[in-house]
Amino acid sequence: MANRKLFIKTYGCQMNVYDSERMAEAMGAEGYTLTDRADDADMILLNTCHIREKAAEKVYSELGRMRVLKDERPDLKIGVTGCVAQAEGAEILRRQKAVDLVVGPQSYHRLPEMVRAVENGETALDTDFPEEDKFEHLPKTRAKSAPTAFLTVQEGCDKFCAFCVVPYTRGAEMSRPVERILREARDLVERGAREITLLGQNVNGYHGQGAGGEWGLGRLIRALADIDGLARIRYTTSHPNDMDDDLIAAHAEVDKLMPYLHLPVQSGSDRILKAMNRKHTAEAYLRLIERMRAARPDLLLSSDFIVGFPGESEADFAATLALVEEVGFGMAYSFKYSPRPGTPAYEKPQVDDAEADERLQRLQALLATQQRAAQEAMVGRELDVLFEKPGRLAGQLTGKSGYLHAVHAQAPDLAPGALARVRITGSERNSLSGELIA
Ligand code: 5AD
Ligand code: SF4
Repeated sequence: MANRKLFIKTYGCQMNVYDSERMAEAMGAEGYTLTDRADDADMILLNTCHIREKAAEKVYSELGRMRVLKDERPDLKIGVTGCVAQAEGAEILRRQKAVDLVVGPQSYHRLPEMVRAVENGETALDTDFPEEDKFEHLPKTRAKSAPTAFLTVQEGCDKFCAFCVVPYTRGAEMSRPVERILREARDLVERGAREITLLGQNVNGYHGQGAGGEWGLGRLIRALADIDGLARIRYTTSHPNDMDDDLIAAHAEVDKLMPYLHLPVQSGSDRILKAMNRKHTAEAYLRLIERMRAARPDLLLSSDFIVGFPGESEADFAATLALVEEVGFGMAYSFKYSPRPGTPAYEKPQVDDAEADERLQRLQALLATQQRAAQEAMVGRELDVLFEKPGRLAGQLTGKSGYLHAVHAQAPDLAPGALARVRITGSERNSLSGELIA
């Protein structure tokens, strides 16, 4: 059973990236090593995303392509994991006969057992929300060594935004205990991680058991900052209503916490925010941003927006543009509303599609202008850059500034993992160029 090859294709958010690593580690114990080529693999896992309709449809078309591989090599096993697996379950096995295995995000620790069944010619399906904590049943040490690492500290969501499938696919909010997180973080640092990004669908809603009771994210970040060798901490993704005083204070007090915050607002219209069940107003968001900037004046802000939510009028959309103008985002993601079966907004009358497309273009044009301005404002500054990998040119390394901008520089004497001072000399389309400061 030794020496089989596993190919994992990951869709969607960073939590899926983390999960894919954990699945590879669990499969490692079964004799599988990772390959980056599907046509070379004995087992293919598609780790899927269900957040928008397009994401789910992509999975079915990819499965169609995989089926061709399987026609040529009937021994090939194909599995679907992630949120499409959770949402569609047995339907996937019915719709695409080439699929052998379907497993939802809460059951990844059961993967080895399921794989054994699949190797014996059975199909395997598990979309339970099991009692046990999967993290406790996944391999204790991490296989990967890289300068940056993800670490899931929280999963699931109880917020039930009217457009979102996450509360259904990932289940209720769950926070991992403090000690387990610290242990995993120390392990990652020993393996070469210098930056850890804490992940959760509602990461700032973290409330894990620690010494003396429940800890919030601010306290967890302070404890992580005590780990020698760990240089940078980030977290994503957050809900405005969970930014508590201690977490805001951490942005002022913890040097290792990077000056970048992804804080989705979705809309600038109170009417739409209410219809979305976001439970805050545009004004409350703006006041929160003021507090964040008071704590960390150079904070670079990022957000998510949805345009064309059911009932969105031109005036509602104008309120979104006004909010963007007022905040000034360094980075943002914007999406056209995608109706998701099973969510409260699904049945609501839709905004005209051409209208929604046109609004998305206007919003993206404004956000692009702000993004460019934020990048250009870096030119001439001296920034710490954590180098992650070789750049495109010989002698070059590329990495990230504290503000999460990609930066490349000539650094023939440094290796990935180096944290170096760089003078920013230019702003290109999606990255900055710079020179090492001797
Ligand atoms: N349609 C469009 N965008 C969505 N998002 C979540 N659900 C939907 C949907 N049904 C966006 C939100 C969220 C991000 C991860 O994806 O902006 O913050
Ligand atoms: Fe989805 Fe809202 Fe939960 Fe974010 S907070 S995962 S958008 S339901």
